[in-house]
Amino acid sequence: MPTHPPEPFRIKMVEPIKLIPREQRHSALIGAGYNLFRMNAEDIFIDLLTDSGTGAMSQEQWSALMLGDESYAGSRSFNRLARTMEEIFGFKYFIPTHQGRAAENILCAILLKEGQSIPSNTHFDTTDANIRARKGRPVNLVVDSAYDPTDKSPFKGNMDLVKLENFISQTGAAKIPFGMLTITNNAGGGQPVSLNNIKSVSAIYRKHNIPFFIDACRYAENSYFIKLREPGYLDISTREIAREIFALADGATMSAKKDGNVNIGGFLAMNDGDLFLRAGNELILREGFLTYGGLAGRDLDAIAVGLKESLEEEYLSYRLAQTEYLANKLNEIGIPIMNPPGGHAVYIDAKAFLPHIPQHQYPAQALSIELYLEGGIRSVEIGSVMFAYPDPETKDMIYPSLELVRLAIPRRVYTQSHLDFVVETLTKIATRKDNIHGLKIIEAPELLRHFTAWFKPLES
Ligand code: F0G
Repeated sequence: MPTHPPEPFRIKMVEPIKLIPREQRHSALIGAGYNLFRMNAEDIFIDLLTDSGTGAMSQEQWSALMLGDESYAGSRSFNRLARTMEEIFGFKYFIPTHQGRAAENILCAILLKEGQSIPSNTHFDTTDANIRARKGRPVNLVVDSAYDPTDKSPFKGNMDLVKLENFISQTGAAKIPFGMLTITNNAGGGQPVSLNNIKSVSAIYRKHNIPFFIDACRYAENSYFIKLREPGYLDISTREIAREIFALADGATMSAKKDGNVNIGGFLAMNDGDLFLRAGNELILREGFLTYGGLAGRDLDAIAVGLKESLEEEYLSYRLAQTEYLANKLNEIGIPIMNPPGGHAVYIDAKAFLPHIPQHQYPAQALSIELYLEGGIRSVEIGSVMFAYPDPETKDMIYPSLELVRLAIPRRVYTQSHLDFVVETLTKIATRKDNIHGLKIIEAPELLRHFTAWFKPLES
């Protein structure tokens, strides 16, 4: 019987949520064009759409907001964040941004030219789209085990080093303005990357003089996975592990909405002074001055506190155990999921759960719609809606290997009974799963279509 960890906090403020009647859920879905991003949050009971910006801040973070210094330039808040950045990441420079994709945009704006490629283990949606938007090519070189939801390897987020070497020699380092690594690998199930792998990736990029940027969104969870799973790290603190990771890179992009545990914020960090100047100019043009980016001073203070709290091991041990609790319960009732579970979410393998729905009819989208209809639960599709793109030459659709429904767990927000309700809902759906139909897309933009597409259910 899986056990849920006792939360290392108690609840001081509550936000009511409500399960609206089934007929109303059905009408809400129709109104939203069967796209859960288009729904009103008040029509959602348990919102597992994302762990991004949806966490509960601590009393220390709320207190820090009150100290926010809103000076346009050189604020105390910026200096406090800079000290935390130095302690945790150790990069020479950073610029605050309003969220992760703004950092990605700036990095691509100053380094990426048309026709160039950016390798990573797996780029997440906005990184992928920011590269495509500048006519670059995002390339995913994760280990093959990442594509097998039943493979229990401990570090399924690892870069495949042979694929990376081959890719660089075929493409030529001159056509790779920077290389990336996403920790943890969100598009591939929230799987961690081992420190050993990060060392090797760094060595390969350095050998070819390719600047190495880490997508650090969930670096604290990744660091804690290293502590638990990688031989030799059990007695090393998560904070030291994080230091070791970032010492291997030339810079990082981060959405602080994940392991910064804030509702808004991010940064782009680097060691190269020239790059910092160029990034700073781009920031001033589009986001804001060097010492606030697109944020208020108080936001910088909340990030400074949140970054430190996210590295606390008591919190991390609860966080990963909560995700594991949900995963174990779903394993117990036979729902196929990506195993072992990731840090921030449980990913249902929709291809295995709904084998009668072909990829072009979006099985993961169909399952996410059922989760809402049955239990008012909002999840997110990470499959062909999010990641199928036409081949640039043949225009044939290239479908991703995985069709996943992600149940992302906001930090410090939901309790064991909420997760039990998710399990009960999936138990009910499983009894009638053969009658679930796919969908078709009626209207969608070219990039990041999952956010705004309109769907229609197929009747049979
Ligand atoms: N990189 C990764 C790995 C992410 O998961 C995200 C966001 C971003 C970059 C972009 O950050 O949203 O602050 O601009 N992922 C969210 C999610 C939205 O639901 O997983 P952002």
